[in-house]
Amino acid sequence: MQPLERYASLVDDFDAFRAACDRPLPSVVRVNTLKASIERAREALDAEGVDYEVSDWHPGIFRLAERGPGTSWPYFHGWLHGQEEVSALPALALDPDPGEVVWDACAAPGSKTTQLADLMDDEGLLVGNDNNLGRLSALRHNAERLGITNLAVTNQDARNFSLKPFGDRTDLPERVEAFDRALVDAPCSCEGTIRKNPDALDRWTMDHVQGVAGIQKGILRRAIQATRVGGTVVYSTCTFAPEENEAVLDHVLTEADCEIREWDTPDGFETDPGVTEWNGTEYDPAVERAHRVYPHRNDTGGFFCAKLEVTG
Ligand SMILES: C[S@@+](CC[C@H](N)C(=O)[O-])C[C@H]1O[C@@H](n2cnc3c(N)ncnc32)[C@H](O)[C@@H]1O
Repeated sequence: MQPLERYASLVDDFDAFRAACDRPLPSVVRVNTLKASIERAREALDAEGVDYEVSDWHPGIFRLAERGPGTSWPYFHGWLHGQEEVSALPALALDPDPGEVVWDACAAPGSKTTQLADLMDDEGLLVGNDNNLGRLSALRHNAERLGITNLAVTNQDARNFSLKPFGDRTDLPERVEAFDRALVDAPCSCEGTIRKNPDALDRWTMDHVQGVAGIQKGILRRAIQATRVGGTVVYSTCTFAPEENEAVLDHVLTEADCEIREWDTPDGFETDPGVTEWNGTEYDPAVERAHRVYPHRNDTGGFFCAKLEVTG
């Protein structure tokens, strides 16, 4: 069975969903306001003759008429970063303030890390972690091009992440004992990336879904432990499988001190609520506060995003 057919009962207008999954994804850039204002970036693209339209829901996100933003000089100089449109949601949900201490648990290659640095005005401490050393090179390259200076890069398994390396640093404003906010943009079965990568489902198996859900539970649990009481943790994936998304949230609600908070996506961006029942399994009703993003709603990739508050 084609894995996406599993979701016929969840998705309104399933034909439109399937048709959207078969269309290639628009090429999108986000303005890096650490280096250029939105207005200045637009002027530079106009001067280069690059055809684009501004996203309906974010003034700093542009859909390009042609693929490949990497050859334009505003991109080369770090005014722009190529980032899938829907992937801008988690950093907006996390909403960090300048000066805070923020952890990006699964950071590479850095679309969301660099967006977080931008939202933090490059102030405070942003820790970008990934367990894949090769992918960390891309993160460092992107951070350098975008002019980010508040980023520390670590290479740990996020499930056992240690704050020790930060405890005795004299170059930090204070001892880092807990994060103010953490983002878990988790490794997943990637069903929602089918528009970008038509092979994404070729090796889909339920064993992989279950295995990766287990990793997500471990990382999310550690993120909640490592964040101060009252702090925020955002969990996101680019997949539709409830065995990952809602089941992972349901698990951490029982295992860790946290609550799922309501969070409104920006005006003009349509989502569906998390599902509370799937294949005979019921989940905590609070998972409804999570957002499911289906490709036909906003002409994006598929996505899942939830905002949690640490309570103890
Ligand atoms: C969805 S990708 C992250 C994308 C990234 N947030 C971005 O916006 O560019 C998931 C990442 O999790 C990393 N990962 C997988 N297992 C991990 C673990 N146990 N600890 C830390 N990172 C892990 C992968 O190497 C991969 O880079």
